[in-house]
Order: sequence, then C-alpha cells, then structure tokens
Amino acid sequence: MAVEEPVKAVVELGSFSILNPKPPGGKVAVDGDFSYDSGNAATGAKLFKAKCASCHTIKEGGPNMQGPNLHGIMGQVAGKRPGQKYTKGMKTSGITWDNETMFNWLSNPKSVIKGTNMAFVGFKKPTDSADVIAFLNKNQ
Ligand code: HEC
Repeated sequence: MAVEEPVKAVVELGSFSILNPKPPGGKVAVDGDFSYDSGNAATGAKLFKAKCASCHTIKEGGPNMQGPNLHGIMGQVAGKRPGQKYTKGMKTSGITWDNETMFNWLSNPKSVIKGTNMAFVGFKKPTDSADVIAFLNKNQ
C-alpha cells in the first residue's frame, strides 16, 4: 500500500480497518510504506514459535491444542477445522482468511470476532503481523 502521508487517524471503537490500522486502544501506528503483503516468513516463523505455538500447531496433520491446527489456513473459511470447539462468533463469522482479514485478526482479534476466546491481545507492530502472515502463507 503506497500512501504519501503516515496514517495517523484516530478511529472509533469498532471501525478498525487497514486504511485506518489503529485498533481500539490505539496501539498500532503505521507509516505509509507498510504493506501486510510484504512480511518476512523467516521472522514470522520465530514469532509464531514465541507467540502462537503454545496454542497452535502448523504442521500438516498436527493436533488441535487450545486453538486449531493452522496448516493451510490461508484461503480457508474461518471456524471450520475438524474437532475444534469454536466460539459462536468464530463459527458464524463467514470470514475467509486472506492477508487483510488475517492482518486485522493478528493486530486485534477482538475487533474481528466479538467474544472470541483466543487469548492473544494482538501484535503492536504491524510488521510482526505481516511477518506471521508470510509464514502462514508458506505453510499451505
Ligand atoms: C492462548 C492461546 C492462543 C494463542 C497464544 C493464539 N491463539 Fe489463535 N486461536 C486460539 C483459539 C482458542 C482459537 C479459536 C477462537 C474462537 O473460537 O473464537 C484461535 C483461532 C485462531 C485462528 C482462526 C482459525 C480458524 O480455524 O479459522 C487463527 C488464524 C489463529 N488463531 C492464529 C493465531 C496466530 C497466528 C497466533 C500467534 C500470533 C495465535 N493464533 C495465538 C488460541 C490461541
């Protein structure tokens, strides 16, 4: 995404989007050069291990833990992994996981699915979300 001015808009609770990527709580400040499509998968792998692997496996055929196995999750409809007990919001969201929806989810899960029980507050740095997205895209 190429914008000339850094995005510094104040947004209201619930109006979080990629054009205004500052979630409720005001934690993410994004400059104009940022793109959620250009993450680094190797850095994402390390972040996944540190921040996600306590609740998610990523290998093909890996077990669900607190959260579902995430192998091949990109391009899939949310809340459909066999054997996972999802919240109602997740089951009925109708979201398809692409770079944009995943960016919003990883930046602020509760802004995407109200009532989700995923106990992860969200990455403060948008580049961290982008790096994990690149890693998830590699594990298809
Ligand atoms: C404390 C445990 C926990 C941590 C840490 C965690 N998750 Fe989750 N995750 C969950 C749970 C539980 C769900 C199901 C949420 C629901 O049903 O609302 C979930 C759901 C998801 C989904 C939706 C899967 C689907 O089937 O549609 C994705 C994608 C996801 N997590 C990615 C991540 C990533 C990436 C990280 C690390 C940045 C992470 N999670 C960290 C527990 C966790």
